[in-house]
Amino acid sequence: MRAAELIERKRDGLELDGADLAELILSYARGEVPDYQLAAFCMAVYFQGLSSAETFALTDAMVRSGDTIDLGAALGRRVVDKHSTGGVGDKTTLAVGPIVAACGVPFGKMSGRGLGHTGGTLDKLESIPGFRVELTTDAFVDQVREVGLAIVGQTADLVPADKQLYGLRDVTATVDNVSLIAASIMSKKIAAGADAIVLDVKVGDGAFMKSLPDAQVLAETMIALGRRADRDVVAVLTDMDQPLGQAVGNALEVREALATVRGNGPSDLTELVLDSAAHLLALSDLGVSRAEGRRRAEEAVADGSAHAAYERWVRAQGGDPDEAALPKAPVIREVFAPRGGYVQRLGALPVGLATVHLGGGRREKDDAIDHAVGIVCLKKRGDAVHDGEPLAEIHARDEASAAAAAVEVLAASDGGDDEPRARPIVLDTIG
Ligand code: URA
Repeated sequence: MRAAELIERKRDGLELDGADLAELILSYARGEVPDYQLAAFCMAVYFQGLSSAETFALTDAMVRSGDTIDLGAALGRRVVDKHSTGGVGDKTTLAVGPIVAACGVPFGKMSGRGLGHTGGTLDKLESIPGFRVELTTDAFVDQVREVGLAIVGQTADLVPADKQLYGLRDVTATVDNVSLIAASIMSKKIAAGADAIVLDVKVGDGAFMKSLPDAQVLAETMIALGRRADRDVVAVLTDMDQPLGQAVGNALEVREALATVRGNGPSDLTELVLDSAAHLLALSDLGVSRAEGRRRAEEAVADGSAHAAYERWVRAQGGDPDEAALPKAPVIREVFAPRGGYVQRLGALPVGLATVHLGGGRREKDDAIDHAVGIVCLKKRGDAVHDGEPLAEIHARDEASAAAAAVEVLAASDGGDDEPRARPIVLDTIG
């Protein structure tokens, strides 16, 4: 295999042999192919795309680049997992995990950190005092077995090719290609060992996929990859034109997830959490329908067992589950509506960026995060608002950053006289 030849073939739009493509990726992971050749290859893929056979060969090679975990075999149970393609205010996993575990289904998940305007589950979890996201693989498996729920960072030896490739794509403008995204996500899901996966594919200005048709193509590509690896996969395509729920920012989001687990969450987040939990229960070994899964998920919230599962899980990973222990920002300022009417738009991307500017997200990979800061979106698309009523609450480290964020939030939202058409949180379900 000569890397230069493969780059040339892909540049010219020819299909590559799966074994050659796999060798290229595995050689790169071993450090035998330099970054500049892989960067050229990714750019060729960006313009020419990959066939489904090539996308599968890429995914399979990425899985083979490191260790894999067989959670199902280790537990003797079907284990379920979920993954979101990334958004603003997306704390779904923090509520879905305890609900599914409370219903008796093991939930084991490896999560990532936020970069850019999208938040990461690990950063949210680290806002809980004492919470450990780094467990050994053995400790991860033991916790899923004993507690029914573990959410940890990805270990270094799982899909190392993705870690290298993703870093390269991030700085060579080659992230947003459907095959590369699908292979990156599904290689990690397959290697981490769950038998059934619910994919939450975000659609809108705060997501990778800006339109529903593009999101449908990504969802179908990931489902096909999962099926070829013997996994059951369902994709829910969900709205990311505005932040999910009200809270954006790490500790604020944990608080909102906790409220949702107790039955007091915002309606869009609650709907997405219950819908995802229903899919996961229907894919589990409980042998229940989706409707029965939904009923059990609602019951777990109503009878307090989901909250008890949350507390057990957080304690198992060293954290303090008490809401009062979460960090609070020293400055809280309201942003007032400049006019009465209805909120027409509240952009997910600018609200996510405003949170990064407050210190709640990273501009660079190694930046530290301020877990306490963020934005609570009190009024969202379709909400009626009076002139001078609070639109949002800014949680900031100081007055200057609060004032700057207030300007950004005002620019992110539009008001108008007519009530906009309602848009459901779940736009489509595939699989
Ligand atoms: N998330 C991933 O894990 N990989 C991508 O390529 C894009 C989003």
